[in-house]
Amino acid sequence: MSEGTSTPDLFSKFDPLIEQRRALLEHGLTDPFSLVMEKVLSPTRAICNGRDTILLGTYNYMGMTFDPDVIEAGKQALTDFGTGTTGSRVLNGTYQGHKECEEALKEFYDMDHAMVFSTGYLANLGIISAIAGKGDYIVLDIDSHASIWDGCAMGNAEIVPFKHNDIEAMEKRLKRIPEGAGKLVVIEGVYSMLGDVAPLKEMVRIAKENGAMVLVDEAHSMGFIGKNGRGVVEDVDVMDDVDFIIGTFSKSVGTVGGFCVSNHPKFEIMRLVCRPYVFTASLPPSVVATAATSIRKLMHGSNKRAHLWENSRNLHQGLRDLGFQLGTEEAQSAIIAVIMPDLEKGAAMWEALLHEGLYVNLARPPATPANMTLLRCSLCAEHTEEEVRTILGMFERAGKAIGII
Ligand SMILES: Cc1ncc(COP(=O)(O)O)c(C=O)c1O
Repeated sequence: MSEGTSTPDLFSKFDPLIEQRRALLEHGLTDPFSLVMEKVLSPTRAICNGRDTILLGTYNYMGMTFDPDVIEAGKQALTDFGTGTTGSRVLNGTYQGHKECEEALKEFYDMDHAMVFSTGYLANLGIISAIAGKGDYIVLDIDSHASIWDGCAMGNAEIVPFKHNDIEAMEKRLKRIPEGAGKLVVIEGVYSMLGDVAPLKEMVRIAKENGAMVLVDEAHSMGFIGKNGRGVVEDVDVMDDVDFIIGTFSKSVGTVGGFCVSNHPKFEIMRLVCRPYVFTASLPPSVVATAATSIRKLMHGSNKRAHLWENSRNLHQGLRDLGFQLGTEEAQSAIIAVIMPDLEKGAAMWEALLHEGLYVNLARPPATPANMTLLRCSLCAEHTEEEVRTILGMFERAGKAIGII
């Protein structure tokens, strides 16, 4: 290299983000993105910075993480099968527990096929990239989760986004696709940033009228929405018209892992063509044992579901009465998003809540729609009525101190 030529620093593209973080933290604000839970006491409580803190920013919707049967199943599998499989599902990584977990999913959804992945992220990555190939079209909501976008990026299909939850925009794009091309519509049941629900009934009908296959990501509705907790697809009665349901074990199920269920007669071939299924290690036996036990218990979770809805409605109403601006007109899911005026105020409010003893998620662009800064609250079936009242008191004090209400 000649003198005077400097080697480009590959990190220079991150400079704006580094500067934004520096500016945010320079006055001593607690970093909202590096909180440590020093001890976890229950699905709704942890010790953070030495203090007993109410958790209102986990995806532990059904509170299964400390369920005694679930814990026992994990311990037993650890003793009987060891700590890990050390291999891919298609080689040495399929144990009895993986098959039992897939059986539990088939029963839970009443579907013919179930395929367990190592995360929900990998399930979207694998199924979307494998199913829609060269010359096919993927029509998807613009606010889709990163794993859906990354699944699109990994495959070779044409990508056609439409405006969030806009039925007409979706239909227009479907109608513009050349005759004879394969079409996959990808929608989420609940969108995790604002906690709003997709108009699935109309969207699925239009997708089918236009000859598209439909994939619904029910990550944030499994276990909670629908009579049997199967998600928005069950709630609006379109289970039979949906080709693939993607989900995760990292939310209502309370552990880690992902899956796809389907009634498609050729579905099993996915096990050989999904690269994120073939080329990664399978889940440890303790994890699939806890997942299977949790899924089976969620089939009988109607009391918990009812209580979670109550919590969600009470928190939404209470925050609205206090004068906070919320992401939805009414509670549509277990996620209540509180809209902050900007990142600085949002981070200050997040910290004030933490000092009160409440943990929520701070969400900011690019993860959020329309450049919003949000405090995302996600409720758990194990939050008591009393805790919801306590949470509202904390929001009131913090909101007044920061000048948001
Ligand atoms: C809509 C949606 N799909 C998929 C995922 C990925 O799930 P996992 O945590 O199992 O990778 C998430 C996680 O946040 C999600 O919100």
